[in-house]
Amino acid sequence: MRRRDALPPMGLSALLGSAPFAVQSAEPALVPLPDKRLLGSTPEAYWSRIRREQFVMPPGRAFLNNGSLGVIPKPVIAALTGYVQRAAALEVREYPRWGYETLDQERTEMAGFLGCKRDELAFVHNCTEAMSIIANGLDVVRGDEVLITDQEHTGGISCWKLKEARTGIALRTVKIPVSPANPGELTDRIIGALTPRTRVLSFSGITTTTGLILPVQEICRAAREKGVLTVVDGAHMNGQIPVWLEELGCDYYAGSPHKWMFAPAGCGFLYGRGEMLDRLWPVIVSGGWDNKKDLKAARFMMVGTNNRAVFHGMVAGLRFLKDLGPDTVFARQRQLARRILDMVKQRNYLELVTPEDERLYGALVTIRFKTADLRGLFEAMEKQRIWILGGQQMRLSVHVHTRPGDIDAFFTVADKVLGV
Ligand SMILES: Cc1ncc(COP(=O)(O)O)c(C=O)c1O
Repeated sequence: MRRRDALPPMGLSALLGSAPFAVQSAEPALVPLPDKRLLGSTPEAYWSRIRREQFVMPPGRAFLNNGSLGVIPKPVIAALTGYVQRAAALEVREYPRWGYETLDQERTEMAGFLGCKRDELAFVHNCTEAMSIIANGLDVVRGDEVLITDQEHTGGISCWKLKEARTGIALRTVKIPVSPANPGELTDRIIGALTPRTRVLSFSGITTTTGLILPVQEICRAAREKGVLTVVDGAHMNGQIPVWLEELGCDYYAGSPHKWMFAPAGCGFLYGRGEMLDRLWPVIVSGGWDNKKDLKAARFMMVGTNNRAVFHGMVAGLRFLKDLGPDTVFARQRQLARRILDMVKQRNYLELVTPEDERLYGALVTIRFKTADLRGLFEAMEKQRIWILGGQQMRLSVHVHTRPGDIDAFFTVADKVLGV
């Protein structure tokens, strides 16, 4: 008989006595953000401290691909690991999971930041999942047309392709300019492609390949005037540009806070404007899937047991962003992106793909090597521990952890390898 089996039946508290569990901490030491006055007087010193004190990346690592997945700062690591430990010690009041819970407090806090109501917002695993729920859940039928652009991420295309293959909807693609002269050109091109058969317009607010910012509000307004439902793939929007969903005016929105909002991997949003969520069929279901009256958006969260720690981390990421100040963060991203744009222009072996108009870019800049012969480039980047994404066309993305020196190091390596 094992020792535990030999214990006489008794209450847990009697077994434990009054001594609380000593939960060993695996959390990184937290340091308060530097005084904002430092940002005013010596901004580079401020940002250098943010990188050094708030992130655990070693000094020798340059990360220029925040667009694929962001880096979590220490407060998020602490929230994640802290929750996991408290949960393991059963020091939490609820089951340490989501999937049967509505996470009201967390949704209220996030809705306050996104400019929507708690009951319009469901947490899901990522943007891909939110897009799939929307595409699968809408009653769009054979003969109806769905319009997407030629700049969508595969997560924003595949959901509609599946629907096309299964139900016979007509999926049409409109080509949009990669370097438009102004935002209005994008609106005109997209709205001009709607036909009387178009029921849904589905497009990215910031494109994945070149970081182009679309005039979402204008596009949604014009589409609505024509009676067309709008679905916005906002994977790159939250944390890169201000987003106030009520004003944006889309019918549905999908988000991935693990890119730009410091959330851990595995966090997503699904938003439906007002009664629009009622029109949507859920895809993965458990009890409560049809309880529109009480659960509202949360019926999309009844998906079975999941790891609640990630949403603790997500709220910590949101607070970190709010503490830094979203406008301060956006301005810093643009300043770093501008540095990339300027450095590209100084090199005749490179060209810019992302347009220079400040209304059209945020923290993602796509460049193109004029030569296809890039032998040695990627090995040299790897050797210098510079993390990049792409080939002859390359997307560089920056965030508050990016140091100007990281960008300079990229160009120094490229100059050296390409012999200029
Ligand atoms: C525009 C866009 N939509 C959707 C996605 C998919 O995001 P996730 O992997 O978080 O589902 C991405 C990922 O890069 C993206 O760039």
